[in-house]
Amino acid sequence: MKGLIRKWQKPLIICLLTVFCGCVSAQETQQQVKHQDLKQKTVVTEESDPYAQKIEPLTTRQCGQCHFSVFEKIRDNGGRHKIHCQECHTTFHSFRPGMTWSDVVPRCTTCHDEAHGPAFPDCLSCHTDPHAPINSLTNLDVLAKSCKTCHNRQGKEVTQYKSAHSEVACNECHHDRHGYRPDCTECHSEPHTGFVNNAGCMGCHPAHSPREINYPATTENQVCSECHAGVNQAFIKSSKKHASFKCVFCHSDRHGFIPDCSKCHGEPHSKKMMTRFKNNCTSCHGDPHSLTLE
Ligand code: HEC
Ligand code: HEC
Ligand code: HEC
Ligand code: HEC
Ligand code: HEC
Ligand code: HEC
Ligand code: HEC
Ligand code: HEC
Ligand code: HEC
Ligand code: HEC
Ligand code: HEC
Ligand code: HEC
Repeated sequence: MKGLIRKWQKPLIICLLTVFCGCVSAQETQQQVKHQDLKQKTVVTEESDPYAQKIEPLTTRQCGQCHFSVFEKIRDNGGRHKIHCQECHTTFHSFRPGMTWSDVVPRCTTCHDEAHGPAFPDCLSCHTDPHAPINSLTNLDVLAKSCKTCHNRQGKEVTQYKSAHSEVACNECHHDRHGYRPDCTECHSEPHTGFVNNAGCMGCHPAHSPREINYPATTENQVCSECHAGVNQAFIKSSKKHASFKCVFCHSDRHGFIPDCSKCHGEPHSKKMMTRFKNNCTSCHGDPHSLTLE
């Protein structure tokens, strides 16, 4: 195709194009003029009769034009209350002197049942801002009176398993806002952080019963030996099979658990022999960590 457009044809094509485009833009200008005429006509109508138009109900955005701080709060912190203003405020701008405020503002129970049972009728005492119902749960003094009513299990845990934490108030740990989870290291100046960081603490100490020490079956011997160096030394010296095991293979389930030899070995020797030695395996085999026959 390119070959077909000869050098002398080029200026001609450009010339034709310019004429065509000129026509189009002229048409556009004419249309714009007409459009402006129309617009001016509409304005004239409205000015002469401001009641000619249908009135639409206010939209949520329009409420927000005056009540911007409320709008902003719902937008940023409203959670599942991001619904239209008028779903709650079926009436508004009706407050007059002599009226009670609670008569003009929406009631929670129009849409909700007693969410937490009959013990908690005064919704706004905790949900202090209806426009941010979850994020406004900051009234910890009020909440603290009822932690255990709603969190029965945790309440029982701290009383059943006596520890120093039983003396610490719920909201001393769960401070600032409802649902906050504290770091252990906020209060403990890192007792054995040589081998563990904050996230690891709860692998051994459950927060509400810290003396019920538990650990996972994957715990390395090195962790135990931080505190039981002697046992570890015995392991290093021993060539017996026990020394190749994980501490938690025998001391399973919870800290301090001592297994019975027979749990794994059953009855390796005759009854007669065992009665003579009062079933005491270690009187012959010695310390289970070194197994040196004595
Ligand atoms: C989930 C229901 C709900 C929604 C949605 C809601 N409100 Fe409210 N609003 C209330 C309640 C309840 C009160 C009364 C609070 C009180 O007694 O302190 C209130 C109070 C108000 C007040 C007076 C107190 C104040 O905070 O200034 C204004 C103004 C207001 N709402 C505007 C709005 C606007 C504007 C919207 C939408 C952008 C909106 N509300 C959406 C429930 C709602
Ligand atoms: C033109 C501005 C304007 C618009 C638009 C507006 N408000 Fe108001 N509103 C006010 C003023 C002014 C007050 C009284 C002073 C105050 O409480 O801030 C008020 C008070 C309120 C109150 C508390 C007192 C009462 O009598 O209810 C509520 C609730 C409320 N507005 C809700 C709304 C809702 C919902 C919308 C949208 C449907 C809306 N407003 C639209 C200006 C406006
Ligand atoms: C017009 C109906 C309406 C009113 C009135 C109303 N709510 Fe709600 N509320 C809802 C809806 C809808 C949801 C979302 C429910 C869902 O998703 O299951 C909700 C959710 C909530 C939530 C959970 C919010 C979240 O983000 O998870 C809380 C808390 C709540 N409402 C408290 C209140 C309180 C307190 C009041 C009174 C101040 C109130 N509501 C008034 C309709 C309402
Ligand atoms: C003693 C304080 C307190 C009172 C009073 C209270 N609430 Fe709550 N409410 C809470 C707390 C705390 C939550 C849990 C918030 C969370 O999920 O983090 C909650 C959660 C909710 C939820 C969300 C539940 C869910 O499973 O998503 C709704 C809805 C709710 N409240 C409505 C109400 C209503 C309605 C009232 C009044 C009848 C009320 N609350 C009274 C403290 C209170
Ligand atoms: C009115 C009932 C109610 C009260 C009072 C209450 N909570 Fe809750 N709490 C809830 C509900 C509902 C949830 C969310 C559902 C759940 O995880 O059980 C929750 C969740 C929590 C969570 C877990 C949050 C997460 O991220 O999983 C913690 C921690 C908590 N509450 C601590 C407290 C403490 C501490 C108090 C007292 C200061 C308290 N709560 C008072 C109802 C309540
Ligand atoms: C010494 C600090 C401390 C105290 C005291 C405490 N908690 Fe906790 N709580 C925590 C920590 C840390 C977690 C997070 C546990 C996790 O992530 O495994 C937690 C978790 C929770 C949870 C979330 C669910 C769960 O069991 O993991 C609830 C609910 C809770 N606590 C309620 C309470 C209540 C109610 C009290 C008072 C009876 C209380 N806590 C006292 C530190 C504490
Ligand atoms: C709000 C402060 C606070 C937080 C957070 C906290 N503790 Fe404590 N804890 C204490 C106090 C106070 C004591 C008693 C004095 C002491 O031993 O330092 C204690 C004692 C303990 C004890 C010894 C228990 C006993 O009865 O002797 C253990 C174990 C413990 N905490 C572990 C933890 C772990 C793990 C965490 C994180 C889940 C944690 N703590 C979070 C305040 C806290
Ligand atoms: C491998 C398990 C394990 C891990 C992980 C662990 N601990 Fe311990 N912790 C223990 C054992 C075992 C004791 C001693 C219990 C005893 O005295 O009966 C202990 C004791 C404590 C004590 C009481 C100290 C005293 O002098 O009475 C505190 C406080 C404590 N741990 C906090 C923590 C904190 C905080 C973390 C996380 C940084 C943590 N622990 C991680 C196993 C662990
Ligand atoms: C933070 C230090 C610490 C760590 C880590 C630790 N222990 Fe202990 N352990 C102790 C203390 C202190 C005692 C003695 C206090 C007692 O009798 O509860 C003890 C006692 C024991 C006992 C003997 C209980 C009895 O009745 O004589 C066994 C078994 C034990 N630990 C095993 C382990 C194992 C296995 C691990 C590793 C998974 C481990 N320990 C990790 C501090 C620790
Ligand atoms: C093959 C099983 C087994 C293994 C593996 C094992 N233990 Fe033991 N451990 C025992 C038995 C059984 C006892 C009780 C001895 C007794 O009754 O005299 C014991 C006692 C203990 C005691 C208390 C008495 C003492 O010797 O101080 C501690 C602490 C202990 N073990 C720590 C450890 C540690 C740490 C490891 C890992 C380095 C470990 N154990 C590995 C079986 C084992
Ligand atoms: C949790 C299980 C477990 C417990 C508890 C346990 N053992 Fe063992 N023990 C083993 C296993 C597994 C072997 C290796 C068996 C094999 O390879 O045939 C072993 C090996 C032995 C051997 C042979 C050692 C060797 O190197 O050939 C002796 C002796 C022995 N155990 C004695 C004891 C005594 C005594 C106790 C109690 C103080 C005890 N065991 C507790 C699991 C256990
Ligand atoms: C009177 C001393 C004596 C008593 C008590 C004793 N043993 Fe032994 N046991 C021995 C002798 C000796 C051997 C054989 C030498 C060896 O294998 O080291 C042996 C061997 C074993 C073996 C290794 C068998 C093998 O295949 O290598 C096991 C496992 C064992 N004993 C477990 C136990 C257990 C568990 C108890 C307690 C119920 C116990 N013994 C009590 C003296 C004793």
